[in-house]
Amino acid sequence: MKNKIMIPILIMVIGLLILFSFLLYSFLQRREVTRINLFSSPLDIDTTIKQTKLFEERNPNIRINIITVPQDTDEQHDFFVKQLSSKSPTVDVFSGDVVWPAEFISNKWILPVTDYLSKEEQEKYLKGPMNSCRGDDGEIYCIPSFTDAGVLYYRKDLLEENGLNPPKTWDNLLKISSQLSSKYKDLKGFVFQADSYEGLICNFLEYVWGNNGSIQKEGKFVAVSPQNEEALQFMVDIIHEYKITPPEVTLFQEEESRKYFQDGKSVFLRNWPYVWGKIKGTELEGKVEVIPMVHNNNSESAATLGGWNIMINRFTDSPEASIKLAKFLGGWEAQKIKAINNGNLPTLKDLYGDEEVLKANPFFSVMYDVLIHAQSRPILKGYREVSTIFQKYIHQALTLKISPKIALEIIQKEIDIFQAKKQ
Ligand code: GLC
Repeated sequence: MKNKIMIPILIMVIGLLILFSFLLYSFLQRREVTRINLFSSPLDIDTTIKQTKLFEERNPNIRINIITVPQDTDEQHDFFVKQLSSKSPTVDVFSGDVVWPAEFISNKWILPVTDYLSKEEQEKYLKGPMNSCRGDDGEIYCIPSFTDAGVLYYRKDLLEENGLNPPKTWDNLLKISSQLSSKYKDLKGFVFQADSYEGLICNFLEYVWGNNGSIQKEGKFVAVSPQNEEALQFMVDIIHEYKITPPEVTLFQEEESRKYFQDGKSVFLRNWPYVWGKIKGTELEGKVEVIPMVHNNNSESAATLGGWNIMINRFTDSPEASIKLAKFLGGWEAQKIKAINNGNLPTLKDLYGDEEVLKANPFFSVMYDVLIHAQSRPILKGYREVSTIFQKYIHQALTLKISPKIALEIIQKEIDIFQAKKQ
């Protein structure tokens, strides 16, 4: 009799205990949510939302707050320097340009991630991007999320209509541009990025390298050389002498030049692979092709190596969750989303053999070769200062304030002074 009463009571008590523990568990779980501030470029926002949604589904205890930064890489750089040098924990995870690690690592602003990336995982990445994350101490300080190389977009439909082959040399570019812009009303030949900012250096170097020039010799900067002067003169001339390029390019960054081309106003555009993703679904889809950048006779095509790496603020309040997110954003799934939606080049080698990625970006097979030969900008702690000197005077030459010769001479002088001060 006693047992008959006790059993239901016992079941009830156990049931209540289970219910109570479940409620307590979910309450504690909700309380233990970690919030991460992820800083992203406006160019990447749609894919960042897609990627983080997937990450949050997998990690219900981590919530991501996406904050956008200006698109200009120099403005982003200065923003993060301000945050990290003041040891502020506001930024947890962010995407950093490949030219930043030397400075950010030596100032101890970013967390090493070596312990979270096995040798096997490291080997899955392309060498160049992975090396851009390596400090002098051999540690890895970031995870490459996509790579970039400058390429030339052209209007396949217009060239085919006129029986023209895609250009290889500067001369070809001039000829086709002049021919087509005199035939079609309101059509210019060629646009690129010539505002005074980092993108201008990327463009300038492609003319320098594509003319057998260089800005470094035996570890020193060499701005003045006949090849460099000829390259800069060509950039000036396409705007002011041959007029295949509208003078407003001196105000153009990536997006302004992309829109100009996408609005059907030019035959050619020098830009990064992301433009492919932007053209998809527009009137230009199917009418555009991607080829390596043009070069001078007796030289070879050259692409500037760009790209972005996921970095973690050393002063974050949530290192564990931040590392988890960084690994995810630099991992297979997130890179695949980026490649398919944005046309961004993966840093994981195997993604170049992925059917869906190749279907979305048929030009990736061309790109692999361009990428392997793409050249890095100088890797040094004071890169931002050196780049600012180049930017200022190249821009002055492009806007006819000084001649290319004078521009390169002033650059040389200022860089020599800067380097002497640093020694
Ligand atoms: C792209 C490149 C980056 C470069 C920038 C210049 O974002 O990936 O490396 O510095 O363009 O605007």
